[in-house]
Formats: sequence, structure tokens, C-alpha cells
Amino acid sequence: MKTIITYGTFDLIHAGHIQILRRAKEMGDYLIVGISTDEFNKLKHKEAFYSFEDRKLILESIRYVDQVIPEYSWEQKIEDIKKYNADMFVMGDDWKGKFDFLKDYCEVVYLSRTEGISTSLIKRNFSNRDE
Ligand code: CTP
Repeated sequence: MKTIITYGTFDLIHAGHIQILRRAKEMGDYLIVGISTDEFNKLKHKEAFYSFEDRKLILESIRYVDQVIPEYSWEQKIEDIKKYNADMFVMGDDWKGKFDFLKDYCEVVYLSRTEGISTSLIKRNFSNRDE
């Protein structure tokens, strides 16, 4: 069984998220998604609209996702790869090169992002709308 692992905030799920989850799952048999906890988001100066628990619930309902784990620090990836016996680490290419140090532990693949959509863009579009 080939295990794939990926990470992200996955707030306000959109088509770009679904595409990367689908493509990540297609790379193997079992997809684990690490989602940032609310505390970790604060550390990154990010604020999710949905709580960790809600984001987890939503992700677990997506057919490509087999398991959701909390991401609480930048340093945990090596530990997770070993713990879950991950064969491949997948991220969108906005992170290209940033996780090459994980190549000592598993395959590292960057997938192209879906153009024209992001959680930040959704938030910006809504906050610019007239009530
Ligand atoms: N992703 C993607 N295509 C998009 C948006 C995101 O492939 N259009 C991927 C990212 O590359 C990452 C994963 O989805 O591997 C989770 O990204 P996340 O940061 O949660 O989503 P964004 O929409 O980029 O969020 P933000 O705008 O807050 O950065």
C-alpha cells in the first residue's frame, strides 16, 4: 500500500483544494492530510474562517481523503512521515523546493496549483462586496 501525505490549512474548501486532493490520492492508495490547528495558524499569522474541528469534519467527508491529522508545528513532518510510513509527500507548487529536505525520508512531489482560486481570494472577494 502506498501512503501519500500532504499538508495545508484547507479553509473554505474550493475547487483547487479538491483538485490537489484528487491528484494526490491518485499517486497512491491512502491519503493522509495534515491540517493546521488554530494555534499553528496564529503562529503563521493566518486566521481560518472555520475552526480546526470543522475543517477536519469537512475534509474527512471528501472521498479522496483517508485520514486527517493535526499540523501543529513546522518541524513535525519528518516525524509524521516516519510514524505513518508515508511513501510520498505532496504539496502544491507554490511550495516548490521548500520541502526538498524531506527527500531523505520519502519521495517529494510538487503538483501544479489550480489557477485563479485560493482561500484568500474568496475572502477578499466577499469582503469587497457591497452589502
Ligand atoms: N492549492 C492548489 N490550488 C489552489 C489553491 C491551493 O493546488 N488554487 C493547494 C496548495 O498548493 C496546498 C493545498 O492546496 O498544497 C492547501 O493549500 P491552502 O494554503 O490551504 O489553500 P489556499 O487556497 O492557497 O489558501 P490561502 O489563500 O489562505 O493561502
